[in-house]
Amino acid sequence: MEKYKVIMDVDTGTDDAVALLMAMASDQIDLLGVCSVNGNRNIELTTDNTLRVIDFVGKGDEVKVYKGCALPLVSTLNKDRRPLIPYGDKYFDGQENHGNHLDLPETQLKPQEKCAVSYYIDTLMASEGDITLIAVGPLTNIACAMRAEPRICGKIKEMIIMGASLEEGNSGPSQRAEFNFWADPEAAEIVLQSGCKITLVPLDVTHKTCIHMDEALAFEASGTKAGYAAATFIKRRIGNYETWSKNWHVDEAGAPIHDALCVAGLLDRSVFTEIVSCNMKMDISGGTADGVSLVNFKDMSRDLDGIFRPAVKNVNLVMKADREKFAKIMGDLVTK
Ligand code: RIB
Ligand code: CA
Repeated sequence: MEKYKVIMDVDTGTDDAVALLMAMASDQIDLLGVCSVNGNRNIELTTDNTLRVIDFVGKGDEVKVYKGCALPLVSTLNKDRRPLIPYGDKYFDGQENHGNHLDLPETQLKPQEKCAVSYYIDTLMASEGDITLIAVGPLTNIACAMRAEPRICGKIKEMIIMGASLEEGNSGPSQRAEFNFWADPEAAEIVLQSGCKITLVPLDVTHKTCIHMDEALAFEASGTKAGYAAATFIKRRIGNYETWSKNWHVDEAGAPIHDALCVAGLLDRSVFTEIVSCNMKMDISGGTADGVSLVNFKDMSRDLDGIFRPAVKNVNLVMKADREKFAKIMGDLVTK
């Protein structure tokens, strides 16, 4: 069986952690490297959390981590745009989705000397164009690499990205933005306009494909380390969504494990039951809708000169996914 060559870009976080556990457990994935990025927490915490997950399942010798960007490209330069980013260890109090350090033992593993941006450029330029990127945090690293070496855009086989929202936002004053794209909207715009093949998994889909408590408990009962870790993260998220669920319309019986759905969709594309090609742009104006993803499903767009032109279909947007298949793929992998 031919394996997928994959680089993951993560802001670990509990759902990133489940995605990573799945990728490391899959015989279909050759995980070339993992790049950390500022997002759910600051870069030191997201990097350490990524290393903890890898170490916990004994993959420290196989899976290398490349530390990425500590700040978004530009969104924090104006102190009024993203005043709380990078999220330090003081931003959240009490129960929320991630915690500062994941609930896993400390690790002695360290990231590689090479930074994530250099790793992307060196690895992609040396490749046969057969590498898939699974990006589940702000897109700062990838956008930075594209700006430094535009030729990598022709070397990326596909990007499967968790990001954007149509109706179900979770970030910004409009609550119409999605965190990964909202944290670094300029990076998202650079990637969206890169011309690469993009399969995008938005909040609207991840909020409808929650993993349930009984499934998490079954993962834990399997006795595997990945099953224990995945259950720990899922139970935390379910607890948090019970608090927040009034804010976000998610399946009441569980919690969205956003990033993990990207890995499941790579392994079995039939998980994505409906995909629509569309045009997507980011609002980077710094106003109320700053960081919101703007979708045009029509075949034509109308530019500022008033002329109608064919819309560039730059995104394959996942509109629906099969929750049962998703949960089974996750369960099969973390209980192996
Ligand atoms: O909006 C959800 C996304 O933001 C997920 O990737 C989560 O890990 C956070 O990065
Ligand atoms: Ca993430």
